[in-house]
Amino acid sequence: MVSGLVLLAAPRAFGKANGLPTTGCDSCHSGGRAPTVTITMDPMTVDPGGTTTVTVSVSTPNNGPAGFYLHSRGQGSFMEVAGQGTRLPTSAEVTHASPKRGGDPVTFQVKWTAPAMKGAYSFEAAAVSANGNGAPSGDAAGHALLNFTVGCPGIDVYVDQDGDGYGSMKIPPIRACEPLAGYVLKGGDCDDYHAFVHPGATEVCNEFDDNCDGNVNEGLQPTTLYKDGDGDGHGARFTTDTKMGCNLAGYTALHDDCDDQNKEIYPGAKEVCNNKDDNCNAKIDEGAKTSCGVGWCRAVADSCTSTACTPGMPRQEECNLIDDDCDGMIDNNAHCENGRVCVLGRCLNSDDATMITMSMAGDGGAPISTPGGPGSPTTGGASSDGGAVKTKSQASRFGCGYGGGQPGGLLALGLVVALMLAARRRR
Ligand code: HEC
Repeated sequence: MVSGLVLLAAPRAFGKANGLPTTGCDSCHSGGRAPTVTITMDPMTVDPGGTTTVTVSVSTPNNGPAGFYLHSRGQGSFMEVAGQGTRLPTSAEVTHASPKRGGDPVTFQVKWTAPAMKGAYSFEAAAVSANGNGAPSGDAAGHALLNFTVGCPGIDVYVDQDGDGYGSMKIPPIRACEPLAGYVLKGGDCDDYHAFVHPGATEVCNEFDDNCDGNVNEGLQPTTLYKDGDGDGHGARFTTDTKMGCNLAGYTALHDDCDDQNKEIYPGAKEVCNNKDDNCNAKIDEGAKTSCGVGWCRAVADSCTSTACTPGMPRQEECNLIDDDCDGMIDNNAHCENGRVCVLGRCLNSDDATMITMSMAGDGGAPISTPGGPGSPTTGGASSDGGAVKTKSQASRFGCGYGGGQPGGLLALGLVVALMLAARRRR
């Protein structure tokens, strides 16, 4: 409210010189050298409801005045320190009241009263080192983040996405009062998506830097590798085609494949009804089951030989990424109210539908008019295979049970649609 009045009363330029509540200073200020921005707290440890002094310091590589914006993600409240040249757009935000000169770095101090709840908090700052030409040219912005805790000494915790006990080295740690689910105390994981890759792991012959020391397959003795004819990672059981090496294309350290001409067959593969020993355990079709019906109607029998399989009842096709009427086509003839069009499981107005269809086509993604047979979803979504429509036989082989929920690939596409729509609304 107050800043609104100032804007009305002051010359237009003053609104900017007066600081803006945004971290996007670099959208206007550019062309100069980026300053080093730091946030410090004194004292560093704060009790719930306690007060600390926060200092934002901005180096001045462009030899002019500096300005800043600091916020506490809506938590706690700031209070001005006399003579620091700051103003508070809200109680959780501070910015410069006017560009400040005075040494390298220029500092801004403000008091902050912590919330009553103990826990993890953070400050984020953006600051500009200007060159004093009264315009945003020849200036540059820098950023700083300070994670801290209130009411406890605090620990650094790292997000651990693959559950191997080592957190990602690409994502900075956050402060927390207690260990958090999904976070660990050790960082340094160079690949947080593969549990076998982490500091201290044993380096083996593969394409990974297993122990995160920056080298792949270092120090490994070449071992006997076996020809992998079908590329399923398993060489033939009795093959005599071997080579010495480590990580050679077409060769693998394993030689346990009972059929090296068929990449669907290897130890650990899923046993399906095909009169073959898919998992190389010398048993045929054990535990596998036939299914009948497609889409919403798909049902599973007791075994491969059972004739007792009754497909479910079709229902009216809706715009929901499900083949409701069991004709092998998803959302064909789906009804949408008010002249809307069914695109990827959502009823859209025709403008949005055209926009999405065009951007998907640009991606080499799914053809919208033919949203894939029932086989597409479990093969990774329409975009990974150029949107090829699977045949019905492939569909049943991949056995996607629509009754049990929507497949992830299409859910992800749905999300993309939602994001595109959101982006479009903003324009
Ligand atoms: C929308 C564009 C825009 C954004 C975003 C913006 N500024 Fe500015 N800023 C300007 C303009 C234009 C001027 C110069 C004229 C004026 O004061 O209005 C200026 C002037 C300044 C000055 C004085 C520079 C001088 O040469 O005297 C400082 C310091 C400053 N801004 C800091 C910031 C900071 C810090 C941020 C981010 C929190 C920021 N600005 C975001 C447009 C912007």
